[in-house]
Amino acid sequence: MDPIAQLDEFEQAALHEIAAAADPTALEAVRVKYLGARQGRLKELQSLLGKVGKDEKPVVGKRFNEVKTRVTAALDDRKRALDRPAVAAGGLDVTLPGTPCSLGRRHPLMQTIHEFKDIMGRFGFTAADGPEIEDEFHNFEALNIPLDHPARDPLDNFYLAAAGVATGSGPKLLRSQTSTVQIRVMEKVRPPVRIISVGRVYRPDTIDATHSCMFHQMEGLMVGESVTMAELKTVLRLFARAYLGHDVHIRFRPSFFPFTEPSVEVDMSWNEPNKPWLEIGGAGMVDPHVLSSVGYDPDRVSGFAFGLGVERFCMRRYGIRDIRLFTSNDVRFLRQF
Ligand code: PHE
Repeated sequence: MDPIAQLDEFEQAALHEIAAAADPTALEAVRVKYLGARQGRLKELQSLLGKVGKDEKPVVGKRFNEVKTRVTAALDDRKRALDRPAVAAGGLDVTLPGTPCSLGRRHPLMQTIHEFKDIMGRFGFTAADGPEIEDEFHNFEALNIPLDHPARDPLDNFYLAAAGVATGSGPKLLRSQTSTVQIRVMEKVRPPVRIISVGRVYRPDTIDATHSCMFHQMEGLMVGESVTMAELKTVLRLFARAYLGHDVHIRFRPSFFPFTEPSVEVDMSWNEPNKPWLEIGGAGMVDPHVLSSVGYDPDRVSGFAFGLGVERFCMRRYGIRDIRLFTSNDVRFLRQF
């Protein structure tokens, strides 16, 4: 028989028996029979090779190698399959390395908010929530902001045109400050009060590296007997120190908010050369008029309130220079936190 035909026959027979081997022992017997180093059939065929003529040699040699490779591979495959019966049956191979799945993580601002709540919680402040779609009463009236106040200008707020019509309860707007939650809390609970409320606020500002039309504020409110501005300043300083990990100076600049009296802008600085004051929010003593409008007795209780920019703090701590990065949805940025 010509050597090529013999190799063909060898290949077919070997592949057939390999496929039919039902367990590793049977497969090993097939291996010895066909590829065994001493008496395997391939060994016999190899000796034939020596006898073919010069012209035929390259063709037969090539086919010999091909057959050897193919039969060896088939043996290996079958062995793997028999070693893992579940896979052979088309099931799940639990011994394979797993498909790596990359875990996501909290957005840096959400991490910040989480930490804010944690820190303020240690000072005895519980977290309260309020709606982002507000009515004019909670966003303005109850906060002493009358109808003719410029803060109510439609150009400075995101009014929801259709909402009032749909609910019949007057115009609605995206809240422009978290101070709304002060009112919602005081409407429900009696003093003493110690709450924070962290969340989104909306203002039609021109967007740049430090301004956004949507940002986050942390509102703080503490009402009780003889609460003073000294406590306000201390709470702000302790809070900033806990979050930033180093001490800060807190500076109050006289200012005006309709719902606090006196009112201040809050600036922060720290001991680094050439560090200017950084404005972090507004604060003040809750206006007696606001206290009495929610049924508190301004002669018996007093309180402070503050509103801080969450992004400001987070940017300061991590050296983030552009507020737009928070909403850029860029994983290169997000992965760093
Ligand atoms: N709500 C004010 C603002 O958004 C900040 C503030 C909060 C001022 C509480 C006084 C008291 O600008």
